[in-house]
Amino acid sequence: MSTTVHSAATFFQSSESEPMNPTQTVPAAARAGAKPLLSLTGVSKTFGSVQALRDLDVAIAPGEFVTIVGPSGCGKSTLFNIVAGLEEPDAGGRLDFLGRECKARDLLGQVSFMPQRDLLLPWRTVIDNAILAVEMEGMRRADARRMALDMLPEFGLAGFENQYPHQLSGGMRQRVALMRTFMFKRDLLLLDEPFGALDALTRTMMQRWLLDVWQKHRRTILFITHDVDEALFLGDRVLAMSARPGRVKLELTVDLPRPRRPDIVTSPDFIERKRILLDAIEEESMKSFMSTQGRPA
Ligand SMILES: Nc1ncnc2c1ncn2[C@@H]1O[C@H](COP(=O)(O)OP(=O)(O)O)[C@@H](O)[C@H]1O
Ligand SMILES: [Mg+2]
Repeated sequence: MSTTVHSAATFFQSSESEPMNPTQTVPAAARAGAKPLLSLTGVSKTFGSVQALRDLDVAIAPGEFVTIVGPSGCGKSTLFNIVAGLEEPDAGGRLDFLGRECKARDLLGQVSFMPQRDLLLPWRTVIDNAILAVEMEGMRRADARRMALDMLPEFGLAGFENQYPHQLSGGMRQRVALMRTFMFKRDLLLLDEPFGALDALTRTMMQRWLLDVWQKHRRTILFITHDVDEALFLGDRVLAMSARPGRVKLELTVDLPRPRRPDIVTSPDFIERKRILLDAIEEESMKSFMSTQGRPA
Protein backbone atom coordinates (compact mmCIF):
# COMPACT_ATOMS: atom_id res chain seq x y z
CA MET A 1 0.00 0.00 0.00
CA SER A 2 1.40 3.38 -0.97
CA THR A 3 1.77 5.95 1.76
CA THR A 4 2.41 8.83 -0.60
CA VAL A 5 0.28 11.83 0.17
CA HIS A 6 -0.09 14.64 -2.27
CA SER A 7 1.00 17.88 -0.70
CA ALA A 8 -0.68 21.25 -0.95
CA ALA A 9 1.35 21.99 -4.03
CA THR A 10 -0.14 19.06 -5.94
CA PHE A 11 -3.65 20.22 -5.15
CA PHE A 12 -3.27 23.60 -6.66
CA GLN A 13 -0.23 23.44 -8.94
CA SER A 14 0.81 21.08 -11.67
CA SER A 15 4.24 20.31 -10.19
CA GLU A 16 4.81 17.15 -8.15
CA SER A 17 6.38 17.69 -4.78
CA GLU A 18 8.11 15.50 -2.26
CA PRO A 19 5.90 13.00 -0.49
CA MET A 20 5.57 13.92 3.14
CA ASN A 21 7.41 12.08 5.79
CA PRO A 22 5.02 10.99 8.55
CA THR A 23 7.77 11.43 11.12
CA GLN A 24 7.98 15.15 10.34
CA THR A 25 5.30 15.98 12.85
CA VAL A 26 5.79 15.60 16.55
CA PRO A 27 3.91 12.49 17.68
CA ALA A 28 0.82 13.27 19.72
CA ALA A 29 2.14 11.24 22.63
CA ALA A 30 5.32 13.35 22.78
CA ARG A 31 3.33 16.56 22.60
CA ALA A 32 1.04 15.40 25.38
CA GLY A 33 4.03 15.45 27.74
CA ALA A 34 5.17 18.89 26.57
CA LYS A 35 4.62 22.02 28.62
CA PRO A 36 1.44 23.70 27.39
CA LEU A 37 1.75 26.64 25.04
CA LEU A 38 -1.58 27.90 26.29
CA SER A 39 -3.77 26.93 29.19
CA LEU A 40 -7.04 28.19 30.56
CA THR A 41 -8.00 27.11 34.04
CA GLY A 42 -11.46 27.67 35.51
CA VAL A 43 -12.26 30.35 32.95
CA SER A 44 -15.78 31.78 32.87
CA LYS A 45 -17.32 34.59 30.86
CA THR A 46 -20.59 36.32 31.56
CA PHE A 47 -22.37 38.85 29.35
CA GLY A 48 -25.09 40.51 31.46
CA SER A 49 -27.47 37.69 32.37
CA VAL A 50 -25.90 35.20 29.92
CA GLN A 51 -23.11 32.98 31.10
CA ALA A 52 -21.29 31.97 27.92
CA LEU A 53 -18.47 29.96 29.51
CA ARG A 54 -18.27 28.34 32.92
CA ASP A 55 -15.17 26.85 34.49
CA LEU A 56 -13.46 26.02 31.25
CA ASP A 57 -10.22 24.06 31.46
CA VAL A 58 -8.12 23.72 28.34
CA ALA A 59 -4.41 23.06 27.78
CA ILE A 60 -2.81 23.14 24.35
CA ALA A 61 0.65 21.67 23.72
CA PRO A 62 3.08 23.27 21.27
CA GLY A 63 2.55 21.99 17.73
CA GLU A 64 -0.79 20.42 18.53
CA PHE A 65 -3.83 20.63 16.24
CA VAL A 66 -6.85 20.82 18.53
CA THR A 67 -10.36 20.94 17.15
CA ILE A 68 -13.38 22.22 19.06
CA VAL A 69 -16.96 21.18 18.44
CA GLY A 70 -20.08 22.15 20.33
CA PRO A 71 -23.63 23.36 19.87
CA SER A 72 -24.28 26.79 18.49
CA GLY A 73 -24.11 29.47 21.19
CA CYS A 74 -22.01 27.40 23.64
CA GLY A 75 -19.25 29.99 23.77
CA LYS A 76 -16.75 28.75 21.17
CA SER A 77 -16.20 32.14 19.58
CA THR A 78 -16.16 33.73 23.04
CA LEU A 79 -13.30 31.39 23.94
CA PHE A 80 -11.40 32.58 20.87
CA ASN A 81 -12.09 36.22 21.65
CA ILE A 82 -10.53 35.67 25.07
CA VAL A 83 -7.47 33.87 23.68
CA ALA A 84 -7.07 36.57 21.01
CA GLY A 85 -7.09 39.19 23.76
CA LEU A 86 -10.34 40.84 22.68
CA GLU A 87 -12.40 39.95 25.77
CA GLU A 88 -11.34 39.59 29.41
CA PRO A 89 -12.82 36.55 31.18
CA ASP A 90 -14.64 36.91 34.51
CA ALA A 91 -12.45 37.26 37.59
CA GLY A 92 -11.30 34.01 39.15
CA GLY A 93 -10.02 32.09 36.15
CA ARG A 94 -6.45 31.81 35.04
CA LEU A 95 -4.70 32.11 31.67
CA ASP A 96 -1.16 30.99 30.98
CA PHE A 97 0.69 31.56 27.74
CA LEU A 98 4.26 30.41 27.06
CA GLY A 99 4.56 29.30 30.67
CA ARG A 100 3.49 32.61 32.21
CA GLU A 101 0.27 33.69 33.83
CA CYS A 102 -1.27 36.54 31.89
CA LYS A 103 -4.34 38.66 31.25
CA ALA A 104 -6.32 38.18 28.05
CA ARG A 105 -5.22 41.62 26.88
CA ASP A 106 -1.57 40.52 27.04
CA LEU A 107 -2.42 38.06 24.26
CA LEU A 108 -3.52 40.77 21.86
CA GLY A 109 -1.22 40.50 18.84
CA GLN A 110 0.41 37.35 20.24
CA VAL A 111 -1.77 34.92 18.31
CA SER A 112 -2.93 34.70 14.69
CA PHE A 113 -6.70 34.90 14.62
CA MET A 114 -9.09 34.18 11.78
CA PRO A 115 -12.52 35.19 13.11
CA GLN A 116 -15.72 33.39 12.12
CA ARG A 117 -16.59 36.03 9.57
CA ASP A 118 -13.25 37.11 8.23
CA LEU A 119 -14.37 39.42 5.49
CA LEU A 120 -11.90 40.35 2.83
CA LEU A 121 -11.88 44.01 1.94
CA PRO A 122 -13.64 44.19 -1.44
CA TRP A 123 -11.56 47.14 -2.63
CA ARG A 124 -8.25 45.38 -1.97
CA THR A 125 -6.67 42.83 -4.31
CA VAL A 126 -5.76 39.30 -3.20
CA ILE A 127 -2.22 40.30 -2.34
CA ASP A 128 -3.25 43.44 -0.47
CA ASN A 129 -5.86 41.52 1.50
CA ALA A 130 -3.26 38.87 2.36
CA ILE A 131 -0.76 41.42 3.70
CA LEU A 132 -3.30 43.36 5.75
CA ALA A 133 -2.29 42.00 9.17
CA VAL A 134 1.47 42.32 8.69
CA GLU A 135 1.03 45.75 7.14
CA MET A 136 -0.94 46.89 10.16
CA GLU A 137 1.84 45.50 12.31
CA GLY A 138 4.24 47.88 10.58
CA MET A 139 5.86 45.86 7.82
CA ARG A 140 6.65 47.92 4.72
CA ARG A 141 4.12 47.28 1.99
CA ALA A 142 6.77 46.35 -0.59
CA ASP A 143 8.37 43.80 1.78
CA ALA A 144 4.99 42.39 2.72
CA ARG A 145 4.00 42.02 -0.93
CA ARG A 146 7.24 40.21 -1.72
CA MET A 147 6.67 37.80 1.15
CA ALA A 148 3.07 37.24 0.07
CA LEU A 149 4.02 36.63 -3.56
CA ASP A 150 6.29 33.81 -2.41
CA MET A 151 3.45 32.24 -0.43
CA LEU A 152 0.76 32.46 -3.12
CA PRO A 153 1.52 29.09 -4.81
CA GLU A 154 1.30 27.24 -1.51
CA PHE A 155 -2.13 28.75 -0.93
CA GLY A 156 -3.27 27.88 -4.45
CA LEU A 157 -3.42 31.52 -5.45
CA ALA A 158 -0.50 31.88 -7.87
CA GLY A 159 -1.44 34.27 -10.65
CA PHE A 160 -4.41 35.64 -8.72
CA GLU A 161 -2.54 38.35 -6.84
CA ASN A 162 -4.26 41.22 -8.63
CA GLN A 163 -7.77 39.79 -8.57
CA TYR A 164 -10.45 41.22 -6.30
CA PRO A 165 -12.43 39.08 -3.83
CA HIS A 166 -15.59 39.07 -5.96
CA GLN A 167 -13.61 37.43 -8.78
CA LEU A 168 -12.70 34.42 -6.61
CA SER A 169 -14.47 31.20 -5.65
CA GLY A 170 -15.50 30.68 -2.02
CA GLY A 171 -12.58 28.29 -1.43
CA MET A 172 -10.11 30.81 -2.82
CA ARG A 173 -11.48 33.61 -0.67
CA GLN A 174 -11.02 31.42 2.40
CA ARG A 175 -7.45 30.68 1.35
CA VAL A 176 -6.72 34.41 1.08
CA ALA A 177 -8.07 34.86 4.62
CA LEU A 178 -6.01 31.88 5.79
CA MET A 179 -2.92 33.23 4.09
CA ARG A 180 -3.41 36.51 5.92
CA THR A 181 -3.60 34.53 9.17
CA PHE A 182 -0.51 32.44 8.37
CA MET A 183 1.49 35.51 7.29
CA PHE A 184 0.97 36.98 10.73
CA LYS A 185 3.54 34.59 12.16
CA ARG A 186 2.63 33.59 15.66
CA ASP A 187 3.01 30.25 17.44
CA LEU A 188 -0.72 29.87 17.92
CA LEU A 189 -3.35 30.07 15.19
CA LEU A 190 -7.05 30.38 16.00
CA LEU A 191 -9.36 29.41 13.15
CA ASP A 192 -13.08 29.89 13.79
CA GLU A 193 -15.12 27.68 11.42
CA PRO A 194 -12.94 28.60 8.45
CA PHE A 195 -14.60 26.10 6.10
CA GLY A 196 -18.15 26.42 7.44
CA ALA A 197 -19.59 28.07 4.35
CA LEU A 198 -17.91 25.84 1.74
CA ASP A 199 -19.51 23.02 -0.23
CA ALA A 200 -18.58 19.48 0.82
CA LEU A 201 -16.06 18.81 -1.92
CA THR A 202 -14.19 22.10 -1.55
CA ARG A 203 -14.23 21.62 2.20
CA THR A 204 -12.57 18.19 1.90
CA MET A 205 -9.89 19.61 -0.39
CA MET A 206 -9.27 22.47 1.99
CA GLN A 207 -8.94 20.12 4.97
CA ARG A 208 -6.28 18.06 3.22
CA TRP A 209 -4.50 21.18 2.10
CA LEU A 210 -4.60 22.70 5.60
CA LEU A 211 -3.02 19.57 7.09
CA ASP A 212 -0.18 19.84 4.59
CA VAL A 213 0.36 23.51 5.35
CA TRP A 214 0.23 22.84 9.08
CA GLN A 215 2.76 20.02 8.89
CA LYS A 216 5.10 22.25 6.93
CA HIS A 217 4.79 25.36 9.07
CA ARG A 218 4.70 23.56 12.43
CA ARG A 219 2.23 25.91 14.06
CA THR A 220 -0.14 25.19 16.91
CA ILE A 221 -3.75 25.32 15.77
CA LEU A 222 -7.04 25.70 17.60
CA PHE A 223 -9.82 25.08 15.11
CA ILE A 224 -13.57 25.48 15.67
CA THR A 225 -15.96 23.48 13.53
CA HIS A 226 -19.49 22.14 13.69
CA ASP A 227 -18.52 19.17 11.52
CA VAL A 228 -17.60 16.03 13.47
CA ASP A 229 -15.81 14.43 10.51
CA GLU A 230 -13.74 17.56 10.05
CA ALA A 231 -12.88 17.68 13.76
CA LEU A 232 -11.64 14.08 13.71
CA PHE A 233 -9.91 14.23 10.35
CA LEU A 234 -7.86 17.28 11.32
CA GLY A 235 -7.29 17.07 15.04
CA ASP A 236 -4.78 15.45 17.35
CA ARG A 237 -7.45 16.01 19.95
CA VAL A 238 -11.10 17.00 19.81
CA LEU A 239 -12.71 19.03 22.57
CA ALA A 240 -16.48 18.64 22.64
CA MET A 241 -18.14 21.49 24.49
CA SER A 242 -21.31 21.36 26.53
CA ALA A 243 -24.36 23.49 25.81
CA ARG A 244 -24.13 26.99 27.29
CA PRO A 245 -22.57 27.73 29.67
CA GLY A 246 -19.80 26.11 27.70
CA ARG A 247 -17.19 23.88 29.25
CA VAL A 248 -15.22 20.94 27.94
CA LYS A 249 -17.53 17.96 28.18
CA LEU A 250 -15.38 15.42 26.38
CA GLU A 251 -11.78 15.37 25.34
CA LEU A 252 -11.02 12.79 22.69
CA THR A 253 -7.48 11.95 21.62
CA VAL A 254 -7.36 11.18 17.92
CA ASP A 255 -4.31 8.96 17.74
CA LEU A 256 -4.86 8.08 14.11
CA PRO A 257 -1.73 7.99 11.95
CA ARG A 258 -0.49 11.01 10.07
CA PRO A 259 -0.40 12.00 7.34
CA ARG A 260 -4.13 11.32 7.27
CA ARG A 261 -5.32 9.67 4.10
CA PRO A 262 -8.71 10.80 2.82
CA ASP A 263 -10.13 7.27 3.16
CA ILE A 264 -9.36 7.26 6.89
CA VAL A 265 -12.92 8.50 7.42
CA THR A 266 -14.21 5.03 6.52
CA SER A 267 -11.85 3.14 8.85
CA PRO A 268 -13.29 1.37 11.93
CA ASP A 269 -11.03 3.45 14.22
CA PHE A 270 -12.40 6.67 12.80
CA ILE A 271 -16.00 5.52 12.93
CA GLU A 272 -15.65 4.36 16.52
CA ARG A 273 -14.43 7.82 17.56
CA LYS A 274 -17.11 9.48 15.52
CA ARG A 275 -19.79 7.55 17.38
CA ILE A 276 -18.40 8.63 20.77
CA LEU A 277 -18.26 12.23 19.64
CA LEU A 278 -21.71 12.24 18.08
CA ASP A 279 -23.23 10.83 21.27
CA ALA A 280 -21.65 13.58 23.34
CA ILE A 281 -22.66 16.31 20.94
CA GLU A 282 -26.18 15.14 20.33
CA GLU A 283 -26.96 15.25 24.03
CA GLU A 284 -25.63 18.81 24.25
CA SER A 285 -27.35 19.93 21.07
CA MET A 286 -30.66 18.68 22.47
CA LYS A 287 -30.10 20.67 25.67
CA SER A 288 -29.26 23.72 23.63
CA PHE A 289 -32.34 23.22 21.45
CA MET A 290 -34.65 22.74 24.42
CA SER A 291 -33.35 25.86 26.11
CA THR A 292 -34.20 27.91 23.04
CA GLN A 293 -37.67 26.32 22.77
CA GLY A 294 -38.56 26.60 26.44
CA ARG A 295 -38.53 23.61 28.74
CA PRO A 296 -41.22 20.95 28.40
CA ALA A 297 -43.86 21.00 31.12
N1 LIG B 1 -20.18 40.60 23.11
C1 LIG B 1 -21.25 39.92 23.55
N2 LIG B 1 -22.23 40.52 24.25
C2 LIG B 1 -23.28 39.84 24.71
N3 LIG B 1 -23.47 38.53 24.53
C3 LIG B 1 -22.54 37.86 23.84
C4 LIG B 1 -21.38 38.50 23.31
N4 LIG B 1 -20.62 37.59 22.67
C5 LIG B 1 -21.28 36.41 22.79
N5 LIG B 1 -22.42 36.58 23.49
C6 LIG B 1 -23.36 35.50 23.86
O1 LIG B 1 -22.61 34.44 24.42
C7 LIG B 1 -23.10 33.18 23.97
C8 LIG B 1 -22.00 32.42 23.27
O2 LIG B 1 -21.73 33.03 22.02
P1 LIG B 1 -20.61 32.53 21.04
O3 LIG B 1 -19.33 32.48 21.77
O4 LIG B 1 -20.65 33.37 19.82
O5 LIG B 1 -21.10 31.04 20.70
P2 LIG B 1 -20.65 30.00 19.58
O6 LIG B 1 -19.48 30.58 18.87
O7 LIG B 1 -20.37 28.74 20.31
O8 LIG B 1 -21.83 29.83 18.67
C9 LIG B 1 -24.31 33.50 23.09
O9 LIG B 1 -25.47 33.42 23.87
C10 LIG B 1 -24.06 34.90 22.64
O10 LIG B 1 -25.26 35.57 22.35
MG1 LIG C 1 -19.15 31.06 16.85
